Formats: sequence, C-alpha cells, structure tokens
Amino acid sequence: MIYLISVGILLFSSQADAFSAIPRRSALEQIKSISIQPFVITAGVSPLIPATASAKESTSTPISAQWTAVDGLNSLSDKQFVSFSDSAYKAMVDDPSRTPQFERAIINRLNSAPDGPGSQVVIDLGTGPFALFALMAAKNGARKVFAIEANKEAAASARETVKKMGYADKITILEGFSTDITLPDGIKADFVVAEIVGSIASEEGAYATILDARRFLKDPSDPSSWIPNRIQTYASPASYTLHNLFTPPAFDWSKLNGEPVRFNCRDEGLQLLSDPILIEDISFANPTSAKWTKKDIIFTIDKVRVEKNEFAFREEFQRGRLPKEEIDKLSVSSARSFSGVALWPRLLLESSTEINSRHYPEGGHQKSHWQTVLPIMSDTPVQLNGGDEVRVTFDFNISEKVTVPARYRISGSVVNY
Ligand SMILES: C[S@@+](CC[C@H](N)C(=O)[O-])C[C@H]1O[C@@H](n2cnc3c(N)ncnc32)[C@H](O)[C@@H]1O
Repeated sequence: MIYLISVGILLFSSQADAFSAIPRRSALEQIKSISIQPFVITAGVSPLIPATASAKESTSTPISAQWTAVDGLNSLSDKQFVSFSDSAYKAMVDDPSRTPQFERAIINRLNSAPDGPGSQVVIDLGTGPFALFALMAAKNGARKVFAIEANKEAAASARETVKKMGYADKITILEGFSTDITLPDGIKADFVVAEIVGSIASEEGAYATILDARRFLKDPSDPSSWIPNRIQTYASPASYTLHNLFTPPAFDWSKLNGEPVRFNCRDEGLQLLSDPILIEDISFANPTSAKWTKKDIIFTIDKVRVEKNEFAFREEFQRGRLPKEEIDKLSVSSARSFSGVALWPRLLLESSTEINSRHYPEGGHQKSHWQTVLPIMSDTPVQLNGGDEVRVTFDFNISEKVTVPARYRISGSVVNY
C-alpha cells in the first residue's frame, strides 16, 4: 500500500504542476483538496446497484453528479462576483491558441467596416487587468472603445495600463457589471468582444451577460456584432487514472460533493470513451435559442478508443513506477472504466476562426488555458466495454441573472450489454 500512496502523491503532484500552468481559476486548490482528503477518509462504499434493463440482455449502474458554477464567481456578498488570480489572467493572455485568434478576429472585423476602422465603436466586455482586447481594437484604428470590467482591482489595473500605453483618450474603462452600465450619450457600439467563456461555456455567466448586452449594439442580431459569436460545450464519458488507483474504503470520492475535478486539457490521466457530443450552444446573436432544456443523450462506448486508452494509461502508470503486474492490471481496468462525463469549451469567433480547447471534433488532448471538467459520477469506476452505453440527462439551470451562478446536474446510468 505504501508504494501506491507514494505513486499517488507522485501522480497528484505531476497533475498539480500541469494545473498551475492553466489556472482559469483555482484548479490547483481543488486538486490539493482531493489529494489530501482520500488519505484520511475511511467512509463506506455505496454498492453499485445492478438492475436488469431492456429486451437486450443488460445491466445498468446508476451515475450522477451535481454542482454549482464557481469558475470566476465568488465572494458574491462583497460584489467581487467575478474573480481571477493574476496568474489566471496571465495564462489567458499567454494562451497561443486563444489570444492571437481574438486579435485576428478584431482586426478583420475593424477592416471589414464599409467606412473603415475609424468608424467603429467597440466594447470590450470583461476587459481584465491588461485591457487586452480594448488595446488591440484601439491600436488597430477603432474610433472609440468602452472597456467594461466588474472586478475592481482588474478595472484599476486596466485603467493604469491604458494610460501608460497612451490610449486614455480612445479607451474608456467602465467599472461594474455590464448589466449595471449605460453607455454615455446613448451611444451604440458596432461590435462587442467578450471573452467570458468558462471551461463549461456557460459557467462564467455568459448567457445572462449576453442577453443583457444586446442593448449596447446597433445590430445585436447580426453575428458580426459579436466576437465570439457562438460558444459551445462538448461532452464525452471519460475514464480517470486516479479514480481507478484510489478506491474506497480508503478513498471516498463522494467527499467531493459533486465538485468536478479540473484537468489540464493535455493531461493523459483522463481519456475519452466515445465521440464527443455538443451539449451547450450559445449563439450571441440569438441567445434566447440557447435557453436550456433538458437533454437526454446516449454515448456509445467506442471499442477502438478503449483499446488506445489502454496504451495511454500504461504510459501514465509507468511514469508512476508501479510494479509491472500492477501496471498491467490497472491499465486494462482503467481503459475499461467510466469515471464521469467530461466537459470542455469551443468558441466560434468569425466564419473561419474557431478556438478549441481540445482537438475538434474527436476531443484529443492539446494545450489550452481552459480546462476539461470532470464530475466524478460514481464512488468507484464503473466497468464497461466497447458497445456499452452511457445514458445521461443533462439538466443545466443557466440563470438569466448575471449574479446567480449556473447549476449543473448530470444523471443516468452505464448500461452494460
Ligand atoms: C476570462 S476573463 C478575460 C479577460 C480578458 N478579456 C482576456 O481575454 O484576457 C473575463 C473577465 O470578464 C469580467 N466579466 C465577466 N462577466 C462580466 C460582466 N457581466 N460585466 C463586467 N465584467 C465581466 C471578469 O471580471 C473577468 O475579468
């Protein structure tokens, strides 16, 4: 057992390192709490309930998780609703698959204006401490930029940055929630840039913000009035190494209380079990079409993925220097197990530009500052094989008020044939 624990620490700490590079929020804090808790918990295991199902001979195991969005949303009481650390803001700026794409989309949008960039009024909604997109718009010729920021410290830094860069006459920082802000003299903007996209697209309040932000625009129903113009969340059932390595009674995953584990999108400790399916699709030009309704989805476990995952897990466990028999056993069982339904975002910026946090469409690993979110949906991994099904209902409660965080619930069963 000792070697397992030390390997556990090793695996956890390598994940923590990976997380520290992409802290959209407190991924590091979260993984720390998981890594410590299982060592001291001895609570019992809830038995997996086999129940017979349909005509085709099958058994089913119930799975579920529910949680409240917290990404960037905290300290509601002191109105510091949206909060990122300095390193989180820096990770966003430095994300090579994000920031240059936004810059290109802003330049293209400015240059496509019939009367040229100098005719354009732009809003950078959620400008952050570096006034990143506001400065890009100003430098590329926009007539006027309004940069809105709810976070007090970030707004103060943005004001400083804009002044230092010599754009204080062109860029006005407006501090507060966009929902509380009115543009001066009834001005209407030509387009809004808003990177308020969570690792589950809706989790930073984008839906409520965009519903309200239509009033800032000359033509809110035109997709070219928005960068991005569409944000999405993809989902796929997944297996997770540590869920297989640390099992009850020594480790009680239910102590997470539904709070998902957040992975670096490059982390091979999480592998997908089927092709991804689109779960959220918020069109900024037509946000009401994204009003959430329950979705019943059947994911069919892909035999080829299961086989490939075994190799990927073998490499992961080899890095943990487990004995060979242990590696053989764990890589086979991990590849054939379900831990939860993984979720990650995708952004469509303009007709030809998109940002994928995982490879599109197959969901492969890649570098991104966004995370893959994995709610653990069963105390112990549920064993499965190619052709089995994960049948779940996605029941998301996406608020129309920016100060009310989203509630997420996924429940259903793994059906073994
Ligand atoms: C993900 S950060 C992006 C920062 C910067 N635009 C960038 O891309 O690097 C989102 C920012 O938007 C702000 N924000 C989110 N929703 C907002 C709202 N409704 N009103 C004002 N600020 C908001 C947050 O405080 C945060 O600073």
